[in-house]
Amino acid sequence: MTSAIRHFTDLSAVPAAELRGMLDDAARRKARLKAGERSRPLEGKVLAMIFDKPSTRTRVSFDVGMRQLGGETIMLTGTEMQLGRSETIADTAKVLSRYVDAIMIRTTSHERLLELTENAGVPVINGLTDDTHPCQLMADIMTFEEHRGSVAGKTFAWVGDGNNVLHSLLEASARFSFNLKVGVPEGSAPEQKYVDWARNNGGSVSFTRSAEEAADGADCVVTDCWVSMGQEHRARGHNVFLPYQVNAALMKHAKPDALFMHCLPAHRGEEVTDEVIDGPHSVVFDEAENRLHAQKAVLAWCLGA
Ligand code: CP
Ligand code: NVA
Repeated sequence: MTSAIRHFTDLSAVPAAELRGMLDDAARRKARLKAGERSRPLEGKVLAMIFDKPSTRTRVSFDVGMRQLGGETIMLTGTEMQLGRSETIADTAKVLSRYVDAIMIRTTSHERLLELTENAGVPVINGLTDDTHPCQLMADIMTFEEHRGSVAGKTFAWVGDGNNVLHSLLEASARFSFNLKVGVPEGSAPEQKYVDWARNNGGSVSFTRSAEEAADGADCVVTDCWVSMGQEHRARGHNVFLPYQVNAALMKHAKPDALFMHCLPAHRGEEVTDEVIDGPHSVVFDEAENRLHAQKAVLAWCLGA
């Protein structure tokens, strides 16, 4: 029943050619917006946004993106909904599908996202789960290519915690054909199923315990917070992660023109120093801006605009 619906749950769930098409569309939409052109292909459409976790970029960029496309949004939080009083996610999906044209959800377990998707009669977009953050990677690949051209064959280094953003980066490495070197401490490895999927789909992924080795010769160094939302219970002493801090010394191991990326919010002085995040390698605010443009392309793809 739902086979024709275009959900954006993960990069692994969308063919590479479709993802590439979305990035091309995002670049066109960005150029047209900057040129002052406006079109309203989603006029009359409504996006429901459910947030079970905090957000600045995802919330604002989806809201503004939908408005720029002529549509509207409804902002919901799990605790305000009957969802927070134990109405099931499946029933919620069926009800919302009678009112709105698409649903974006930021939630905890990936299973909640998948259950929503299986029961929705409208497209569902993953705005981050404990497992993945595919919208972030669409913006990140767009950003890399704006600065350095095609990402194919390039080398990304991930240092820090092996979290949801890394899982989507692993999927992106296969979908967009770049190499990925992962430097994480013991106990912070990404889930093996994401590594296996990347490798089984043409990705080139290597692991090291050394942040310097991971960064060595990289075209792009990426990090994220050491403790993700909802993961506070498994937080370890920051000294475990200190050798993985992205500072000027670590960036020297990467290519001289390497980019530095971070999905934000950043914890300055922890996973990244001011001199790097505010320095010449950093493109973090371009990434944040491109969330808007990339997600407009995702919305247009989901809604056939
Ligand atoms: N990068 C990102 O998803 O930011 P928010 O948590 O502010 O949405
Ligand atoms: N890994 C982070 C990403 C925030 C956008 C988290 O899940 O908290």
